[in-house]
Amino acid sequence: MAVKIAPSILAADFLNLKDELKKLEENKADMIHFDVMDGTFVPNMSFANPILKQVKSATSIPIDVHLMIDRPHRYVEEFAKDADYLGFHYEAGSNVTETLKKIRECGAKTCLTIKPCTKAEQIFEFLPLCDMVLVMSVEPGFGGQSFMPDSLEKVKALRKEIDDKGYNTLIEIDGGINSETAPLATQAGVDVLVAGSYLFGDKMRERIEHLKSL
Ligand code: DX5
Ligand code: ZN
Repeated sequence: MAVKIAPSILAADFLNLKDELKKLEENKADMIHFDVMDGTFVPNMSFANPILKQVKSATSIPIDVHLMIDRPHRYVEEFAKDADYLGFHYEAGSNVTETLKKIRECGAKTCLTIKPCTKAEQIFEFLPLCDMVLVMSVEPGFGGQSFMPDSLEKVKALRKEIDDKGYNTLIEIDGGINSETAPLATQAGVDVLVAGSYLFGDKMRERIEHLKSL
């Protein structure tokens, strides 16, 4: 299966968001990665559901929402209205099984996300309820950070567990993805590459093409 590309609009030009979304469609992005930060779970804030609603109405590309918020179960119903994949952090203080089930009940696909401090094995028991898992390859909170190579071992462990058990779960990676780190991620078994600062700007077309060719 060809690797899927999920540009993170945290790095988009928000004064020209409509054009940015159009460019993502022209360049065949597979998903739009939408980072929600609350200033508590992570030391930064971004954008939330009112902007998600507008983005959803302006594009046909599936939207992959990455909640970096405390106790995310409180907001599942709201975000599931417009998210195709709705992801939250294992470490964020919600009951993981109940939150995954609630996301599916609300009609979205599930994505369980782990920070660099969490081991892959800690989420094995939840894989039957996960349409996707997201391995963070930076500390969540900011774009433009350097890739943490330790994340590759986690991807390999998840790849093995998913393949051995025959689950349909996709593996996504987020943080510091560029032409050097993307091949390492795909070789380790990643299905979906999130990239922000590497993709937005003048070279979007060739960079998406390059990542898709890996
Ligand atoms: C970081 C976010 C990422 C971020 C990635 O907390 O979850 O999605 O946008 O940005 P780059 O690709 O620049 O590392
Ligand atoms: Zn993200």
